[in-house]
Amino acid sequence: MNPAKLPGLLARVPELSRADLVALLSLEDPAECEALRAAAYDTASRSVGDTVRLRGLIEFSNRCDLDCLYCGIRRGNRAVDRYTLTREEIVDAALWCARAGYGSCVLQSGERRDGASAAFVESCVREIKERSRSAELPDGLGITLSCGEQSRETYGRWFAAGAHRYLLRIESSNPALFAAIHPPGQRFEPRLAALSALRGAGFQVGTGVMIGLPGQSVEDLADDLRFMKELDVDMIGMGPYLVHDDAPMRPLGMRERGPLAGLALRMIAAARLLMPDVNIAATTALEALLPDGRRAGILHGANVVMPNVTPLPVRGAYRLYEGKPGLRDDRAAFRDRVAREIESAGRLPGWNRWGDSPHAAKRI
Ligand code: 5AD
Repeated sequence: MNPAKLPGLLARVPELSRADLVALLSLEDPAECEALRAAAYDTASRSVGDTVRLRGLIEFSNRCDLDCLYCGIRRGNRAVDRYTLTREEIVDAALWCARAGYGSCVLQSGERRDGASAAFVESCVREIKERSRSAELPDGLGITLSCGEQSRETYGRWFAAGAHRYLLRIESSNPALFAAIHPPGQRFEPRLAALSALRGAGFQVGTGVMIGLPGQSVEDLADDLRFMKELDVDMIGMGPYLVHDDAPMRPLGMRERGPLAGLALRMIAAARLLMPDVNIAATTALEALLPDGRRAGILHGANVVMPNVTPLPVRGAYRLYEGKPGLRDDRAAFRDRVAREIESAGRLPGWNRWGDSPHAAKRI
């Protein structure tokens, strides 16, 4: 980029055009990348403050009815040992989060739409809410769900049970690319409808995409960011696309790790500039790609981390892509490490708080 152009572009924040976003995502010069990073970090300091929100991640089941062409736990993958934690195990993991000071947990699983699965999630949410109230958490643990597309009715029941945030990635906002990475039965429009149903049910809504998908252009990524802004999301979770050896998209390969990491970090930074007051996660996939990925994400404007608290015996079976980190990390040691990482990025861990985004607080 013309060196005179970047400062002018950053001065227009948060009103960034598609061309501006493409320019930011395409930066290569290290000094320009650093200027983008610093601008995103400062924007985060001003708009979401200097605490990084903590959510203990409970991957409670890898059973899935879907067949996404990129994913390691797709229904068609026979090589996966399938598990579902018991309600007691899930509640125990959540209560561990409450004791550890995380303030919030995320219940994540493959997507199942049968009534028994919906009732199971509902009962887990209820019990976690009831049993996690304490002097530190008078309203109990904050609960985010990430269990895919469901009916309005199911979303309503889960919200009524006490979950208040929901993550549902659009994966790609380009309908043609969405179609290319999913089997024919999994359509773009119902995913959009589910995102609007979540809002209707009362949830704070998060979405996100995979970065570096085969066939994805930098214009697609710019459009993904505009899509999130248009949808007025409260939270963003996005990470690099990484291959899984048993997934149908394996032969298409993936981008080179170094440039992919750079692109993923510029996406986080550009998202922060475009949507200053939303919550943005430094995701596990970023950590899988880059040894210091979580910290790098925070330095690029992310303000949420999701330390894994899934019980160790099943953690390896929840493998969406190759190279998932932290398969042997004891959750207590992990907590200390994450806290140190946050502090070394110049931020403070948000102990014992739900940590909703200012964007959501303004809406409510
Ligand atoms: N690489 C990166 N992210 C993936 N996900 C699933 N498979 C992969 C992969 N191969 C992401 C999807 C999904 C989230 C739970 O994990 O975006 O929404």
